[in-house]
Amino acid sequence: MPTQIGWFESRSRMRHHAMAVVTTLVRSGVAIITLDSPPVNIGNSTLRRELLAAVEIVATMPEVRAVVLASGLPDFYAGSDIKEFDHPVEAPRLPAVIAALEALPCPVVAALTGFVLGGGLEVTLGCDARIADSTAMMGLPEVTLGILPGAGGTVRLPRLVGVAAAIDLISSGRHITAEEALRLGLVDSVVPPDTLLDSAISAARALASKRRTLDLIPPVDPPARIERAIEKAAGRGRARPNVTRAVGLIVGSVTCDPADALVLERQAFDELRSSTEAINLRYLFFATKAAAKGLRTAATGARLSHIGIAGAGTMGSSIAQVCRTAGFAVTLFDSNPAVLERATISLAQARPEQATDGAMTMTLNAQDLATVDVIIDAVFEDMQVKKDLLGLLESVVSSTVVLASNTSYLNLDEISQGLRRPERLAGFHFFNPADKNPLVEVIRTRFTDDATASTLAALVRTLGKTGVPARVGEGFIGNRIYTDYRAQAEFLVEEGAAPHDVDAAMVALGLPIGVFAVSDMSGLDIAWARRKRLSGSRNPLERYVTIADTLCEQGHLGTKTGEGWYAYPDGAKRGIPSENTAKIIAESRAAQSITPRLFTSAEIQQRIICSMLVGAAEVLASGVAQRASDIDVVMTAGFAFPKALGGPIRFAAAQSPTWLMEGLTASHQSCPLTFALARPATTGVMPAEVVALLTAVGSPLS
Ligand code: 3HC
Repeated sequence: MPTQIGWFESRSRMRHHAMAVVTTLVRSGVAIITLDSPPVNIGNSTLRRELLAAVEIVATMPEVRAVVLASGLPDFYAGSDIKEFDHPVEAPRLPAVIAALEALPCPVVAALTGFVLGGGLEVTLGCDARIADSTAMMGLPEVTLGILPGAGGTVRLPRLVGVAAAIDLISSGRHITAEEALRLGLVDSVVPPDTLLDSAISAARALASKRRTLDLIPPVDPPARIERAIEKAAGRGRARPNVTRAVGLIVGSVTCDPADALVLERQAFDELRSSTEAINLRYLFFATKAAAKGLRTAATGARLSHIGIAGAGTMGSSIAQVCRTAGFAVTLFDSNPAVLERATISLAQARPEQATDGAMTMTLNAQDLATVDVIIDAVFEDMQVKKDLLGLLESVVSSTVVLASNTSYLNLDEISQGLRRPERLAGFHFFNPADKNPLVEVIRTRFTDDATASTLAALVRTLGKTGVPARVGEGFIGNRIYTDYRAQAEFLVEEGAAPHDVDAAMVALGLPIGVFAVSDMSGLDIAWARRKRLSGSRNPLERYVTIADTLCEQGHLGTKTGEGWYAYPDGAKRGIPSENTAKIIAESRAAQSITPRLFTSAEIQQRIICSMLVGAAEVLASGVAQRASDIDVVMTAGFAFPKALGGPIRFAAAQSPTWLMEGLTASHQSCPLTFALARPATTGVMPAEVVALLTAVGSPLS
């Protein structure tokens, strides 16, 4: 910003042009064009128009010998405005703005700070040099939105960093630090934040001539390196045609006329922008932001630097690693020395640097949690165990410390009732494996106060997790809906489908793995233990499939025993259909007097999606979820429902009323008690709760 410039100027030698979001200041022959469109310099039509106008004005000023493109905000430019992608993009389009920058007769240096993403990074590729400060994070995340860079990214980036690195960056969409950008040759130097503008001005003055990226000869990559990058991208591009297309454009761009390559890229960008996949991914982008907003309150949360974790089992130690990786000091407590010892060993193996950096403390003494800011309880899923532990912890810590309970199913209102300060407790539900799964459900109880909610909203954000607000209810959002999926999958098997038919149908829809394969991987005994625990409260009129119980009784617990829903001969990783399981299934059908019938893949998908819809409608109607879109965020982030479909609700909302009616009717008929909400569908009426759910995510149903 002008005030930061460390050299003296008399007013007579300064010229200043200001528009709403772009300011140009000319000093001693250097034009500084500053972007200032809060919050993160989103490239909308106003920004593009003003930037182009600024460049055109500078082009008419003979005294300007160099240009610096800078930001007046903590971020340089977060990319094009995604909201504009739903309509034809207004002129000037970004390629025209970049072409104007590139055509300026004098050198242009971009001064990069904070986020430099998508179209923002492409603007800098049209400059003659790039100086970054140490806060800069750069990337071309377009593929995560179902599109590809549309303003020269696939053409200019390979000329700067080589084909292999360009494929890696564009196909992953990952953000890189300034240091990595320097190593790759994407930026020319990295400087401390307080010297960025001065450094960019000096660099601009020092550049003797233009250095257009389009004129560069791409760095030579060994063919094997390019092959590896293409293979890796193909792995990432599973069911992602935009990734494959981006790779083709990058490879082709370096051997053809760059002007032609730019045209081809823009054509692909425009086509992909209106694809269903891209529309769904944009929906999920804003749904995720809405969920994050839903976590926040007006109250001020606590300042966080030290997190305590109670329970050093698999989940607790994994959460400890997540907290430590995010920069918190961590104290991990467990009263069982053997458990703590195992956690210490597994941490040393998984993250040796964390085990030795002094910021992770293992303790057998709960008193050592006295100084932490938040405690995450990750002990065994048992009401009494949790109540006892949280009661003890409450007596150890100060009255402002937040207690966050990681539970999948337990009633948090009941847990809170035993506390002296129930307002300081909320649920904080991680999904296994906590270090890889991005989802955390943040559950407010009847008592949780706003300050506690704000503290946990900030914690989720710092952990880099996708936070979704929820209220107390059986299984909260995700596990509740997954339970309906699993129940319907078992009904289908009992009625005639094979487990692998059900799994294959859902994989064909885009899920990475089916529900029966997942059960085998996690162990059938986990759900079995829960079923036994709840057996007393089960409604005897509710349909209950006994196949999984029989498998467990016979000792077939999944991959760990070599047999479950599938057989795993000789320790195979992928299961094959099991004769024994088929026999158990046949016996179960006979016991229920069910004549098995064939199911098509489409019918399986329809029944399962509609069963999830019933669960989702109940979750929304009961207030356990705040928004319909929160449910799609949960199911895509936490349960790997394909993002390209937007989530189960969004997918269902795109289906015809006939499809929905048939699916809801079949769900209801499969178990009138479990899927009671779908009853109106059997008489040709769409349940009101389902209408509310679907219209909230954009269905024209109402
Ligand atoms: N378009 C529209 N809105 C955007 C946006 C974008 N590209 N980037 C951020 N926003 C909005 C957010 O929705 C949010 O709005 P809200 O306050 O009303 O909810 C606000 O800006 C602030 O963003 P965040 O809350 O996300 O702030 P964070 O600090 O958490 O994250 C960020 C900042 C990393 C920039 C993150 O917002 C992000 O990843 N944005 C998307 C970046 C992106 O994908 N850019 C590429 C766009 S496609 C493109 O450029 C095409 C080109 O090739 C032609």
